[in-house]
Amino acid sequence: MDGRPERAARVSSAARFPRVPPTARRCVCPGSFDPVTLGHLDVVLRAADLFDEVRVGVATNPAKTTLFTAAERVALVRAALDAAGDERSGRVVVEEVPQGLLVDHVRRVGARAVVKGLRGGTDYAYELPMALMNRHLADVETVFLAGDPALGHVSSSLVKEVARHGGDVAGLLPAPVHAALLERLAPKSEPSSTNEGR
Ligand code: PNS
Repeated sequence: MDGRPERAARVSSAARFPRVPPTARRCVCPGSFDPVTLGHLDVVLRAADLFDEVRVGVATNPAKTTLFTAAERVALVRAALDAAGDERSGRVVVEEVPQGLLVDHVRRVGARAVVKGLRGGTDYAYELPMALMNRHLADVETVFLAGDPALGHVSSSLVKEVARHGGDVAGLLPAPVHAALLERLAPKSEPSSTNEGR
């Protein structure tokens, strides 16, 4: 096997998609964002330094149960960007990724690149096969940004776990997201039964 059939399959698959004109520099930052953290926000804003427009793609993985609905996660990313007080936020679109392949969404919105943050080797091992697959499927490139080392310990899942046990995660989340997380995790008071009429 010299790999030629695979190469041909990749090229013919890529040829189905038009090249984005060089004037439109757009990327997609995909993820579950359940919820968005300061680490995500840092990567999204730094992606906006490199591209004219960043499209944050809030995806739903059917294999994962999320604390926030897709619409809530979109609203929280938008609220986090608005609260950041950063001019780059104005060039960031936040939207749901429809069910299906990420590359189809990337091409549909006129992008050719995905931007992902890497906190370390474990992230790289998780992301590399997806990056290779997305390139294989539709010539979609992945740009990896080194995550802010000060936020290397921050992940949505760890933040939720710590918050569930009452730990302080205020410094790890945008303020509106922190407030929404505390509200979502707050014990719900039972509807009070009254003795009225007895
Ligand atoms: O934040 P996550 O959960 O690690 O994000 C993973 C995500 C949503 C980017 C990835 O699962 C994805 O791209 N899903 C869309 C379906 C798809 O294209 N799968 C093949 C990826 S190579």
